[in-house]
Amino acid sequence: MTPGTGSPLAGQSAVVTGASSGIGFHTALLFARRGASVTITGRDPKRGAGAVAAIRAAAGHGAVRFMACDHSLAAANQDLAARLTSSLDRLDLLVNNVGGISAKRRVTEEGIEWSLAVNFLAPFTLTGALLPKLRESPGVSRCPNVVSSAYKMARGDPFEDLQAARSYVGIEVHGRAKLFTLLWSLGLSRHTPPRELVVVAVNPGMTWTPMTQSMTPEVVPAWRYFFPVVRAFQRRAHPARAAGNCERLALATLQAVSGRYFDGKKPKRLPDQLGDPELIERVMRIGMQLRSSALA
Ligand SMILES: NC(=O)c1ccc[n+]([C@@H]2O[C@H](COP(=O)([O-])OP(=O)(O)OC[C@H]3O[C@@H](n4cnc5c(N)ncnc54)[C@H](OP(=O)(O)O)[C@@H]3O)[C@@H](O)[C@H]2O)c1
Repeated sequence: MTPGTGSPLAGQSAVVTGASSGIGFHTALLFARRGASVTITGRDPKRGAGAVAAIRAAAGHGAVRFMACDHSLAAANQDLAARLTSSLDRLDLLVNNVGGISAKRRVTEEGIEWSLAVNFLAPFTLTGALLPKLRESPGVSRCPNVVSSAYKMARGDPFEDLQAARSYVGIEVHGRAKLFTLLWSLGLSRHTPPRELVVVAVNPGMTWTPMTQSMTPEVVPAWRYFFPVVRAFQRRAHPARAAGNCERLALATLQAVSGRYFDGKKPKRLPDQLGDPELIERVMRIGMQLRSSALA
């Protein structure tokens, strides 16, 4: 039997960013097993080749490839979008999974604070450049954006000190970037007809991955008093479980759910203030300003 025969993903084309390991890898693996052709991205071609071989072997077909991209750079996201657009016949599913957290403040060579760049500007730029491809694909395309419950850990006015130059706490800066990705997802869903593209934001839930392993009390100061307990809890969370949430979501995203936030696999109501159209439009404008500044 052909892998994935009968699955809604059979014959579809998916892109999963940051997928040579962690949640992205397991998400790509699930899609490939259900018969999708999958492109995964990451920075390291060797790690990418290893992931492609593992996914091909598990899925039982060869329609899996790796494309190198450092998503923290807007120019690299645009270049990736151009390569995808010219090489893919169709694009049904774009999972903006790449993300990260840093203990120390870093700035990309394009002059953008790194966490804001990789967690917000990356999906903003890549999706913007891939919109024509997504919208022209037959049927309804889907764009699940991977966020985090850390969006609640953004502190103060999210529009102040955008580059975290005055104050830097890893989890707060990461949380603000995820908040922006959540709000941009809501904005994008309002700007695109759901019969062409369904956009959702998903928190995959706590998972034991390299990113989680980098979350020490220096990154999350609130954990310093009970860190061993946090670690014991985290170690039990396998990435395949979180990927299952992303996959179910990708399969379940029907027209009615565009613009929803999913906590794990369940839709969750967001606080009313996050639905404020002015707030959402402000985040959309910030995305455009950051992209222009990064590409200048
Ligand atoms: N883990 C959790 O508990 C958790 C909870 C909530 C939300 N999330 C979110 O879920 C997503 C995936 O998290 P994860 O824990 O699976 O992360 P992870 O383990 O750190 O993901 C690593 C993957 O991302 C790639 N990557 C990292 N930085 C990159 C960059 N700048 N450009 C291109 N690829 C890059 C890595 O490949 P290379 O190193 O080769 O580039 C690797 O394939 C993130 O958006 C994260 O915020 C995670």
